[in-house]
Amino acid sequence: MKVFSTRILPPAGVDLIEKEGHTLTQWQEKRELTEEEFIAHCKAADGIILSGRRKADAAFFEECRHLKVVSLFSVGYDNVDVAAATAAGIPIGNTPDVLSRATADTAFLLMLATSRKAFFHHKRIGRGDWDFFEPTANLGIGLHGKTLGILGLGNIGFEMAKLCKNAYGMNVIYHNRSTNQKAEHLLGAVKVSFEELLQQSDVLSVHANLSDEIRGVFNASAFAKMKPTAIFINTARGPIHNEEDLKQALDNGTIWGAGLDVTSPEPMDKNNPLLDMPNVCVLPHIGSAVQETRDAMAILASQNVIAGLKGEKLPKCVNPEASPRPSAGERE
Ligand code: 8YV
Repeated sequence: MKVFSTRILPPAGVDLIEKEGHTLTQWQEKRELTEEEFIAHCKAADGIILSGRRKADAAFFEECRHLKVVSLFSVGYDNVDVAAATAAGIPIGNTPDVLSRATADTAFLLMLATSRKAFFHHKRIGRGDWDFFEPTANLGIGLHGKTLGILGLGNIGFEMAKLCKNAYGMNVIYHNRSTNQKAEHLLGAVKVSFEELLQQSDVLSVHANLSDEIRGVFNASAFAKMKPTAIFINTARGPIHNEEDLKQALDNGTIWGAGLDVTSPEPMDKNNPLLDMPNVCVLPHIGSAVQETRDAMAILASQNVIAGLKGEKLPKCVNPEASPRPSAGERE
């Protein structure tokens, strides 16, 4: 059968698909596909591997009802209208677990880099601004024994909490719909309300899926409830924070610093004032960008597509309620 991937995949995934006898077409150009190109390629395929900026929305599923599977090269699935996929009987695969540690490492890196103004100091050297020692200038903020607040304590949040607990003996609080027994038992994590999370966190790290409920939840009123010494970290999705409100909160000292791996829009404009703020570190969405992790994501995304093409249960599926398609049948 035919598989289309919107990006060039790590070879580990390509090999799996080809060994199954499927024909894999990968988008080769270093520019995003236009909507027309995307639809045309998907129409010619039986299953797709999706990453990048193109969305599988309701209109997409109208056009591409024949697809046996949409396999995401990501754990996040905010680029898919899951209800429309389920209504069309199309299973959506994603890549949880395999990227949890790498993404938590990125959150930890941003926390530490922000707390020590690392990117600002790095740029300072390039400006020739390293000539005079000032004991009181541009100081960071310590992390030992501080309180880490996690919004969305799933696998990635758990790994971040574990790192912070082990490295700095941080106290862990979290806000989540469900209780995370493992984190409570192993890390002494305490579930709190969203208000309490805002008020008590020294570092507040976001690890939640983007949903309508959470979109823009970090706005002026949320930042106003945080400590003036607090560091805000977002490695989940940019639209979870309101960027204008964040800029103001940083500018007027409502909060102390921010570390972002995700922005809205992506890419961030190169003239964005956040890039020049000493207490801000921004990365270009590299949460899972580790060789081993990307290989594991490619393998899982390929396993998902292979299972979907056979009409079997996907190893990792966002909508298991979508009835699988029989493999022998002709395309509708
Ligand atoms: C991906 C991510 O690298 O998994 C996710 O949800 O954000 C990252 O791991 C990115 O989405 C590109 O597909």
